Amino acid sequence: MVEKLLRSHASVRKYKDYTLTKEEVSALVETAQHAASSHFVQAYSVIWVTDIAKKEELGKLSQNPKQFETAGAALLLCADFHRLQVAGKLHHTEIEIDTTENVLVGAVDVALFAQNLVIAAEAKGFGICFIGGVRNAPAEISQLVDLPEGVFPLFGITLGVPDQQNEVKPRLPVAAVLHENSYDSAKYESLLTEYDRTMEEYYASRGSNQKVANWTQQMAEFLESPRRPHIREFLASKGFHMK
Ligand SMILES: Cc1cc2nc3c(=O)[nH]c(=O)nc-3n(C[C@H](O)[C@H](O)[C@H](O)COP(=O)(O)O)c2cc1C
Repeated sequence: MVEKLLRSHASVRKYKDYTLTKEEVSALVETAQHAASSHFVQAYSVIWVTDIAKKEELGKLSQNPKQFETAGAALLLCADFHRLQVAGKLHHTEIEIDTTENVLVGAVDVALFAQNLVIAAEAKGFGICFIGGVRNAPAEISQLVDLPEGVFPLFGITLGVPDQQNEVKPRLPVAAVLHENSYDSAKYESLLTEYDRTMEEYYASRGSNQKVANWTQQMAEFLESPRRPHIREFLASKGFHMK
């Protein structure tokens, strides 16, 4: 049952006219909180953006307006070390947040929490889309929702009752991801060529947005130049200088 649900995931970017209730959002968050957490720091916060103007602005700033326009709930997922600073203060301790390790801890904690939330939402029949586009304008978005020092947004999640159904995207062959005892790079060329053929067929025949494309070419183009170089400076502005 769980496997069937996990294997049927496909992002949904258009939603029917239904607004999630506070009970629904709270229940999803509570379920998500049961994700494992590094040293139990629980270093995440979610901003549920219900204000129409703010939601629209979030869509604009993240350059993904369509998803936010119809979303039944718009969430901003943040790594949060501010709450840990407050915890430290309760014990008259100034905690040290400014490390690269903490950036990793926060990103992993948020990702595990978010994936739990997504699975819980999909199990209830909602569709979801992660919005990494939030990192296109992290400073402006932080300002929009008043994020303090020690808190940085990682991505958004839009969710709602699906108004579209995308086909499940084929993943890399398991052999390209699974290594036994030692890392084996020699197998990649043939496996990636095989996967390119699978993806070419998928892109050419899917229900909407058909295109001539394959995976390796897309990755080559996507990663040809540095992505979001402003992130380093933004993280520093939030108290993380990557020490
Ligand atoms: C962290 C993260 C950020 C993403 N950001 C965006 C985004 O900004 N806009 C969007 O339309 N999809 C976004 N996606 C969705 C991916 O494009 C999608 O998961 C991927 O193409 C696989 O397709 P599937 O989810 O339908 O299986 C994001 C996914 C993840 C995990």
